[in-house]
Amino acid sequence: MSDVSLMVNGKRVSGAAEDRTLLVHFLRENLGLTGTHVGCDTSQCGACVVHVDGKAVKSCSMLAVQASGSTVVTIEGLANGADLHPVQAAFKEHHGLQCGFCTPGMIMTATDMISRHPEGLDEATVRAELEGNICRCTGYHNIVKAILAASKTMKGSKGRAKQA
Ligand code: FES
Ligand code: FES
Repeated sequence: MSDVSLMVNGKRVSGAAEDRTLLVHFLRENLGLTGTHVGCDTSQCGACVVHVDGKAVKSCSMLAVQASGSTVVTIEGLANGADLHPVQAAFKEHHGLQCGFCTPGMIMTATDMISRHPEGLDEATVRAELEGNICRCTGYHNIVKAILAASKTMKGSKGRAKQA
């Protein structure tokens, strides 16, 4: 067992974890942050994407001990109280989800994507950047629409692309 200490959604958390414990399981089982989903456990689906030190990471591809000392943001950390993050609001407005299973990972990937493209995004870029996120319901069309809309809303804004 090793001690794992992280900043998660703005709070310092710590706990003991087996060395083989994946970050996604630490978040879900030790911290109860079940918004981060497990779709495959093999780095294929993107349901488990979180931000680690400001970058989108598949949390099933990282050990909890590797993440120790890092700052992590999960889907639970995006909204500001009752105010949805602009990417969450765009998914809602543009019907970017059906069953919702892929949605946390899609939104965490999208917020990272938008923060790396403050000049705005085009459809081809969004589709290329979503290659690591699988949705079994939507056909992607409304997801892409939602991300393009959020990118437009957030263009030039420094404030809410992601929370540290
Ligand atoms: Fe991590 Fe599928 S659960 S990529
Ligand atoms: Fe169902 Fe994407 S909304 S898997």
